[in-house]
Amino acid sequence: MRLMNIVGARPQFIKASAISRAIKLNFPDKISEIIVHTGQHYDKEMSDVFFDELDISKPHYNLAVGSSRHGKQTSMMISGIEEVLLGEKPDCVVLYGDTNSTLAGAIAAAKLHFPVIHIEAGLRSFNKTMPEELNRIISDHASTLLFAPTNSAFKNLMNEGFRPENSPPYTIDNPKIYLTGDIMYDNALFYAELAERKKSGFHKSIQVKREEFVLVTIHREINTDDISRLETLMLTLNALARDHSIPFVMPLHPRTTLSLRTRLESLYNDLRSSKYIRLIPPVSYLEMILLEKTSRLIITDSGGVQKESHFFRKPCLVLRAETEWVELVKNGTAELVDADPEKLRNGFRKFTDDGKELEYPAFYGNGKTAEFILNEIIMMFEKP
Ligand code: UD1
Ligand code: UDP
Repeated sequence: MRLMNIVGARPQFIKASAISRAIKLNFPDKISEIIVHTGQHYDKEMSDVFFDELDISKPHYNLAVGSSRHGKQTSMMISGIEEVLLGEKPDCVVLYGDTNSTLAGAIAAAKLHFPVIHIEAGLRSFNKTMPEELNRIISDHASTLLFAPTNSAFKNLMNEGFRPENSPPYTIDNPKIYLTGDIMYDNALFYAELAERKKSGFHKSIQVKREEFVLVTIHREINTDDISRLETLMLTLNALARDHSIPFVMPLHPRTTLSLRTRLESLYNDLRSSKYIRLIPPVSYLEMILLEKTSRLIITDSGGVQKESHFFRKPCLVLRAETEWVELVKNGTAELVDADPEKLRNGFRKFTDDGKELEYPAFYGNGKTAEFILNEIIMMFEKP
């Protein structure tokens, strides 16, 4: 069978690599992959580095849409994906997560009646002002097979009318929902040791010591485009690092760098010359998981990084008012601090001073989720 992967943004290259690896290892004679890169992310460190490092085949198509406003970007993707679908006629289309590339793939494929498979289905923040929330809801409702990574995601789908008792043949009107694990956990398990071996000099190159730094990522629209929010966050982080004399490593998404450089220039210069702040360009996946694994604490607004904090048993402060990964907050190992300096300071104190042992239960499967998903896809679409 021929499976078409639609990817475009950094976390999708990482997620798709788990599926590619499981195809190569377990189903090389059964599944052939077509990779369509929308071009949503295009800088070397936001795109090529993942294809090289994670051993993903070069995209068969790159639509090179680049950056623009939501409507323009998404419409260019829809039109490009439609052309490719008409030419390739795959058996199914696989989508990951909640980006504009996910949404475009869902609309293009569903309108042409290609079955859509959504990996990371059912996640909800219940905040429709987030672009990702609209992308998730629309993509789920255009899908035929929906793989929910957590109990809460599975329940969200049921609350929206998806029925676990549906029976085959599955279609967009009679979809199948699954509770699986998370393919990002497959990756974390697979790459953790390799990261240690291949990136052994990385800490030295950024002048930090293992377990003696805080890792920070910020890229969400709400945190980068609302300048007073970004300013509050950066001032608070800078003060925390200085007051506690601990380096904060910040691999900055290009969007965050752009906002700082163009709209908060003097703060940007202060941060760059600060003794405790390490502003660095986006890092590769192996570098990132090594940083996560060896950090003291993680502060982030990223969905993927929240989960990885759990995989690597690190407490996490979430720079948002809500999260889709609610089990982490319920578990007490992640805390929603929004952009509130007081909550950030209290959370920081709690997770760095408190000697209490934290528990990290297995919320995200057994590391073989990609294999499970592919087995289900084969059962559904393999030709006799
Ligand atoms: C996108 C996703 C978000 C996901 C994130 C992962 C949407 C709506 N958002 O956000 O859900 O968490 O990817 O990283 O799909 N830019 C560059 N170089 C690049 C890519 C982007 O400079 O290679 C800059 C551009 O200024 C661009 C901005 O980043 O305008 C935003 O990029 P975009 O892809 O629109 O959204 P992300 O913030 O990356
Ligand atoms: N990541 C990376 N380099 C970085 C920052 C993040 O490789 O500099 C990885 C991270 O380990 C995770 C994924 O990118 O696997 C998360 O992507 P991102 O934060 O861009 O998006 P989100 O998960 O919020 O959609």
